[in-house]
Amino acid sequence: MPISTSLEAAYNEQINLEMASSYAYLQMAAFLDEENLPGMSSWMRMQAEEERVHALKFFDFVLEREGHVELTSIASPGLSLSTALSAFEASLGHERKVTAAINDLYALATDERDFASYPLLNWFVEEQIEEESTVGLIVEQLKMIGDDRTALLMLDRELGARQPSAEGE
Ligand SMILES: [Fe+2]
Ligand SMILES: [Fe+2]
Repeated sequence: MPISTSLEAAYNEQINLEMASSYAYLQMAAFLDEENLPGMSSWMRMQAEEERVHALKFFDFVLEREGHVELTSIASPGLSLSTALSAFEASLGHERKVTAAINDLYALATDERDFASYPLLNWFVEEQIEEESTVGLIVEQLKMIGDDRTALLMLDRELGARQPSAEGE
């Protein structure tokens, strides 16, 4: 069954939000590189790639459902970052916003009895649990670290070991 006009619009907005997430993570990657934290920068860069994969999951879904994809302009991340902690806090805030958007999509799909949306949205519900938990842990660890530079460099090295995943997870 083709996608409804309202779901089509909502998914197009979500494509934009995922691309805006990618853009925000890229800004965080640049900031962390400037701060001489290459491991954290690389982590954010991978996160940016992952968000692009997320956008494409919605992109493909809309097209598969005989919908129309309309790409709109991506807002400037507008982040004022001062420390690694501020970057990861911005990331956590952003992920919570995305989770709320996924929940809204779920509610709309349910209202419209668009059960074909469920496998896609279930994947995102689980993904958001993981995203919030991963970023939340890094935020807490950065708070523990405080101004201990040795510990900060150790965490930078640990995050730099992250490997890219093909599935956008
Ligand atoms: Fe995402
Ligand atoms: Fe994310």
